[in-house]
Amino acid sequence: MTAEHTQETAVPEGAPSLPLFGIAFGYMSAQMLHVFTRLGLADRLAEEPRDGAELAVAVDADAGALERLLRASTMLGLVRETEQGRFELTPQSHLLRADVPGSVRPFLLTYFDDAVWHAWGSLEHSVRTGESAFEHTHGVDMFTHFSASPELNTMFHRAMSLGTAQEAAALAAAHDFTAHHTVVDVGGGNGTLLSVILSSAPGTRGVLLDTADGTTEAAEVLNRAGAADRCEVLHTDFLAAAPPAADAYVLKSVLHDWDDERCRAILRNVRAAMPDDAVVLVVELLAPETTRSGLDPYLAISDVNLLVTTSGRERTETELTELLSDAGLAVESGSRSLGGTGHRLLVARSA
Ligand SMILES: C[S@@+](CC[C@H](N)C(=O)[O-])C[C@H]1O[C@@H](n2cnc3c(N)ncnc32)[C@H](O)[C@@H]1O
Repeated sequence: MTAEHTQETAVPEGAPSLPLFGIAFGYMSAQMLHVFTRLGLADRLAEEPRDGAELAVAVDADAGALERLLRASTMLGLVRETEQGRFELTPQSHLLRADVPGSVRPFLLTYFDDAVWHAWGSLEHSVRTGESAFEHTHGVDMFTHFSASPELNTMFHRAMSLGTAQEAAALAAAHDFTAHHTVVDVGGGNGTLLSVILSSAPGTRGVLLDTADGTTEAAEVLNRAGAADRCEVLHTDFLAAAPPAADAYVLKSVLHDWDDERCRAILRNVRAAMPDDAVVLVVELLAPETTRSGLDPYLAISDVNLLVTTSGRERTETELTELLSDAGLAVESGSRSLGGTGHRLLVARSA
């Protein structure tokens, strides 16, 4: 190789090499966070600061290897070293504990499930074909995979409801549910959203519509909110059958899981069931029409994750409005922000 050639191919001065390395090695940091969580280190360290050898015994790990993970975890801000050479949790890492409100452990364990991890390894397949890498890799869709293991299924549905309580409070503040006799939460999961809605509207009845797998913890969630006696849990395939008649339907983070054709099927089923004066409330993260003024990082990653793991996508307001229109539903006015949740509300009625 000539000196001239070396000069030509050298990284130009000021090139953003470090940020690129940061992105490239991000998957290693993410796996460190995952293993830190899976081993239950946050639970152990919440009891008291410990050194690597003590922790290794407590969580059944190799002491030397665990020391190295802990040292790297200081760089990730998960732990810090005390003057006695022990490790203690940082404030943010308390959310990795199993038993705290708002624990992100279910989310991490779901998204680092082996099958999801391997599907992400086939992102290139999704980008080349537009197909779900998950289905390509495992031959089944992600919901079916999660349903096959009770533990994973519970973890997945807990993960799904993680941000939902906050979004539910914002939705209940943005829309007056006391005006409705019955609200159907289509794909309502474990009932986190409907519990908050029913608590905000003591005279309103609820129908939680989801699969049997999606509702395993629903009775507990609805009971805790004191809403169980006003809520029916219905196991219905929303792709194949219409929900019951009601005066309000909520679909939160449901349409983004599906391709356009199946979104139309879900919405047509709702349209077929609803009386003419009923309202359909769609809550989603809305993709901007252009990225020129920036993009919410959560939305950006969620969209590619949906590409890898489902047939769905994060849609723009225009795209969602068109899907609703195809099903005979007209959006009342522009979307409304749901506080600082990043989600937006579209209100539609029969066209
Ligand atoms: C992304 S989660 C959203 C859950 C809830 N709406 C929320 O925002 O927390 C999608 C929900 O759709 C449900 N689901 C998936 N396929 C379904 C089907 N064919 N019929 C009914 N529910 C389904 C899942 O069980 C899950 O609860």
